[in-house]
Amino acid sequence: MLLAMMPLPHVRLHACVRAPHGEPGPEESRDAISTVRTGLALPLVDLERGGTVPREPSRPRPVDGLGRNVCEFGAWIDVWGLFIPLGAYANERPVMKFAVIGGTGLIGSQVVKNLKAAGHEAVPHSPSTGVDIISGKGLDEALAGADTVVNLANSPTFDEASLAFFRTSMDNLLAAARKAGVGHFVILSIVGVDQVPELDYYRAKALQEELLTAGPIPYSIVRATQFMEFMDAILSWTADNETVRLPTTPIQPIAAKDVAAAVTDVAQGPPLRGIRNIAGPEVFPLDELGRITLSAKGDSRTVVTDPTAGMFGEVKGDVLTDTGADLAPTRYADWLS
Ligand SMILES: NC(=O)c1ccc[n+]([C@@H]2O[C@H](COP(=O)([O-])OP(=O)(O)OC[C@H]3O[C@@H](n4cnc5c(N)ncnc54)[C@H](OP(=O)(O)O)[C@@H]3O)[C@@H](O)[C@H]2O)c1
Repeated sequence: MLLAMMPLPHVRLHACVRAPHGEPGPEESRDAISTVRTGLALPLVDLERGGTVPREPSRPRPVDGLGRNVCEFGAWIDVWGLFIPLGAYANERPVMKFAVIGGTGLIGSQVVKNLKAAGHEAVPHSPSTGVDIISGKGLDEALAGADTVVNLANSPTFDEASLAFFRTSMDNLLAAARKAGVGHFVILSIVGVDQVPELDYYRAKALQEELLTAGPIPYSIVRATQFMEFMDAILSWTADNETVRLPTTPIQPIAAKDVAAAVTDVAQGPPLRGIRNIAGPEVFPLDELGRITLSAKGDSRTVVTDPTAGMFGEVKGDVLTDTGADLAPTRYADWLS
């Protein structure tokens, strides 16, 4: 009599089919859960909605040895609140292979390091490793077997020739990536890149984005603000022995290591088929940033405010900043010290 009044036990079936290239695992809402109420006679079937399902407290979130999410297939009997596992976790997220183009550069070398530290295979490619994205030399071999291409190459110049660099390199890379069956293509672009058509280099980067989005490969675009490491080059463009001329253009500098961390994160995830903006935590007028930089370096030159000076004199308003972007942790004063 007592037994007849108790709720019947549940069997909860959890299943997940992991899509290639790291699509979200069960925690990120891919579960299709059905609850089967077992009975003595005919079973009652109660299909619950898909979507995120709270995990049972008795069952830890499945992760692999590196703390990454893994897939699972299994069954648990819920006997009046006691969860008894019937199946094993399986289908661990495999080590992924990344071809990092420009993997010897400022950002590329750090992304390679980060990906390797996360347990992946990440191979840097550049002319110094025998891969040239302009001539196409070594490209097919470089992309063979790659799950993801991360393109961090840069044009040797910022002038009109950069348009040809990004057009030719993207044409070659996209054709090779398609041939190799690459499932995710990541590029690093610039916040506000499509708002500054006056600058050849920005038009070239906007063209790079267009070629990627129009192409055949699922993609992600990370747009970053100006690198803190880029300040020395900016100062050198308009400097003489006594002065550096700089406009008041708002700049939101970001440390290269924070950029590399964001690119690494995006590269390991599913294709965004869109843009992620990342930026430093503070905005400075460029002339003020110049004064802070020279002072920190003990450089006695004076910064003269000149609205037309250098490449950034062409930039209108605050299009190179984005306070709504993902803000990186490193502040400029900390980076300088
Ligand atoms: N500077 C900024 O503030 C800023 C802001 C946002 C986005 N970005 C973007 O960030 C990306 C990376 O910049 P970065 O400063 O890391 O560049 P970087 O240090 O100049 O490195 C450029 C890389 O490209 C490689 N490369 C050049 N020509 C190549 C070719 N023909 N074939 C294959 N590889 C080639 C170089 O190889 P070698 O070393 O062998 O020459 C190097 O590994 C760029 O696309 C840039 O537009 C920059």
